[in-house]
Amino acid sequence: MPQDKRLVPDEELNRQRGFIEKIKDRAKKTGEQGRPLRAFTDTYGCQQNEADTERLRGMILEMGYTLTKSEDEADLIVINTCAVREHAEMRVLGNVGALSHIKKRNPDLIIAVCGCMVQQESVQEKLKKSYPYVDLVFGTHAVWRFPELLYKKLSGGGRVFDAVNAEERGMIAEGLPIHRDERGRKAWLSIMYGCNNFCSYCIVPYVRGRERSRAFSRIMDEFRGLVNEGYKDITLLGQNVNSYGKDTGEGIDFADLLYRLNEVEGDFLIRFMTSHPKDASPKLFSAIADCCKVAKQLHLPFQSGSSRVLKSMNRGYDKESYIALAELAKKTVPGIVLTSDVIVGFPGETEEDFCETLDLIEKVRYHALFTFLYSKRPGTKAAEMEDVVSKEEKQRRFDRLLKIQNEISKELHEEYVGKTMRVLIDDRGADSVHTLSARTDGGRLVHLNGSEALIGSYADVKIIKSSNWALFGELA
Ligand code: SAH
Ligand code: SF4
Ligand code: F3S
Repeated sequence: MPQDKRLVPDEELNRQRGFIEKIKDRAKKTGEQGRPLRAFTDTYGCQQNEADTERLRGMILEMGYTLTKSEDEADLIVINTCAVREHAEMRVLGNVGALSHIKKRNPDLIIAVCGCMVQQESVQEKLKKSYPYVDLVFGTHAVWRFPELLYKKLSGGGRVFDAVNAEERGMIAEGLPIHRDERGRKAWLSIMYGCNNFCSYCIVPYVRGRERSRAFSRIMDEFRGLVNEGYKDITLLGQNVNSYGKDTGEGIDFADLLYRLNEVEGDFLIRFMTSHPKDASPKLFSAIADCCKVAKQLHLPFQSGSSRVLKSMNRGYDKESYIALAELAKKTVPGIVLTSDVIVGFPGETEEDFCETLDLIEKVRYHALFTFLYSKRPGTKAAEMEDVVSKEEKQRRFDRLLKIQNEISKELHEEYVGKTMRVLIDDRGADSVHTLSARTDGGRLVHLNGSEALIGSYADVKIIKSSNWALFGELA
């Protein structure tokens, strides 16, 4: 069978395996001299970046490093960066800046900066000029070439800046090792990469390249593996999962994928993100309703309630059609938990536009809303638009919106009080009263008290209290 042209060729991946072996030999020598080499990773941004870091960690472990939680004792530091808002970029630069002290103490330390931010040439230039202690820089498209790049640095000594290579965009690298945290609890599973939507404010399509879906059989194999390993909460990832399968030629769309994964034997829950409203179909809602292992939860970002602003954002739907869609989701999947993203202060947003946003959230009533102040991203269409509203006014709008949303979340969470529900206990709790934390089927956070031995298992919990951001329960 000829190889899928969208895949990184096998011989390329084998070359990378060769570099992993070479690095492993070096690591072994160092280990024999004293101690094993240690690597530290840090991840900014969304779950896509988390998933990339899991691949990097998989390769790092195969290279013979052990993982450490302390930057100070690391021989290799990898920072995976996010470019979605200016604030995210400033945080990354601040933290990379702080690494210079560690490098002074330990000149042999290798510092790598990768991910969305450095997929931009301007950022690479900045790192080259102003951050001389950063050794290795590579973008999102080069994750699979990390072994080669690291080996180059280890054997040559010079700084390595991987060119932002247009040819590699749109490639899929299958078969990389993955090291997941939280064994047996929650797992991310990438089903597609990139984005074709070019929402006018967004940098993602520029730093993640064009949309490409993984073959169904690859997803199924990875999914089955996760279930066999005991994972209970599996989130399918893509910037717009609703356009899954458009390029595979397999005739399996996202709803079909849900139906197929739902048939896998085992006790687990399937979640997914993100759904773009323009591609969310009645078939998708039916799939959520029909599939007992698909969480009754939908993250459906609306971004603005003003049809005029939505047009300028290039979102491909208007206020009325969005509300109709949310209503259809509620009707098709009774009790569905809706969450969303919204941007406040998009260029040209008037008080009237903003009131449309408030109206939309009062009509749809989300359990939770991720609220962002618009951030100008150089290179995007919106960056060229006139932006006259003051920072102070944007902040006032932001605060007004938050106040209304908090009230809605509070009211919706109150409806859980007195109910007993099945939750997945997924972590230690935040304090001594609530020693455990859990998630409901709809993704609501539950604080409760119980033995740590319960982490990773389902339990019936009676909800006794609620707030605008969480539920509080006791083991039933
Ligand atoms: N693919 C996902 C979103 C990825 S980015 C989707 O389309 O839903 C996550 C969120 O960040 C977006 O939903 C948007 O609300 C926010 N965001 C993206 N670019 C932004 C910008 N320039 N300023 C402020 N928020 C932004
Ligand atoms: Fe960005 Fe829009 Fe793509 Fe989401 S769909 S990643 S907001 S361009
Ligand atoms: Fe950030 Fe890249 Fe995700 S820009 S939000 S880490 S796709």
